[in-house]
Amino acid sequence: MTTEKHSEHFLTDARSFWWNKDYLELVSKRWETQNVTSVLDIGCGVGDWTAALLTILPEGTKVCAVDREPAWVQKTQDRFGHRVLVQQAAAEHLPFPNASFDLVTCQTLLIHVSDPKHVIKEMLRVLKPGGLLAVAEPSNAAQTRDSIYLSLNEASAIFEIGEISERGKIALVEGNNSLGDVLPGLFAECGLENIQTYTGDKAMTLVPPYSGPGQSEAIADRIRDADTNFFMFGYEQTKKYFLAGGGSQEDFERYWKIGLENLKKVKEAILNNTYHCAGGIVMYLISGRKGLI
Ligand SMILES: C[S@@+](CC[C@H](N)C(=O)[O-])C[C@H]1O[C@@H](n2cnc3c(N)ncnc32)[C@H](O)[C@@H]1O
Repeated sequence: MTTEKHSEHFLTDARSFWWNKDYLELVSKRWETQNVTSVLDIGCGVGDWTAALLTILPEGTKVCAVDREPAWVQKTQDRFGHRVLVQQAAAEHLPFPNASFDLVTCQTLLIHVSDPKHVIKEMLRVLKPGGLLAVAEPSNAAQTRDSIYLSLNEASAIFEIGEISERGKIALVEGNNSLGDVLPGLFAECGLENIQTYTGDKAMTLVPPYSGPGQSEAIADRIRDADTNFFMFGYEQTKKYFLAGGGSQEDFERYWKIGLENLKKVKEAILNNTYHCAGGIVMYLISGRKGLI
């Protein structure tokens, strides 16, 4: 029996195209990473954020990464070899002494944890005084949709299944896919200083013949979703969230069908070379300093 690993469906090759190199360099200046000598990336998955960080960190920086999934720990270790020290660990109980790192970071981890403030405090524990806590977390509710392919009824159905399911995930205390919207406030409540918030500048644009950087990878994901009927978080998970968010079984089945039909329309348009989207997303970069005392 194979069991689904956390975020398995979403850890695809398209992920390595999430950041523009020149933008990361700008962020590096704003975060003053030139003085960083040790970094911890939490919830590293298969290492895509770690890889982005390696492009901006000073050579010789000690880089550690952790993930709860043994399979991702192995993949990340294989990907980076000796350059990165990878361990299995939960974000809630990091296996490091107090004040171990100059920079503690994560990408799309906090949206999945049940108690983000607890995790932020644990991140702060392992951060050195004066060190930087910097995270990349989205507002998934703010993504652009493929609405030009939809009637008003279909667009409303897709909006509702999204909104109700996201609320269900929060109600089940399984995370918040738009946590980025409230993270600066949580940072302040956890005592961080000099809080700065930016949004990433990368749009996931798709235009035929889909030959730009990362486009064939993103197209492959859309085709796979249409072929495997994978809408939102997959049937079982989405239904669980939708019902927990107060939706009815009947509405769920109706909206699900519309969601799948939309995937097929997108696939057809891709195959006809007529599909295009600007691909706007809201990925926040939120940082704050740990006080010196
Ligand atoms: C959406 S993926 C992000 C992976 C990577 N940071 C990236 O952006 O490519 C979320 C990752 O967090 C890990 N994860 C989820 N909850 C965790 C927890 N409580 N402690 C440690 N890792 C966790 C999952 O196993 C998964 O690899």
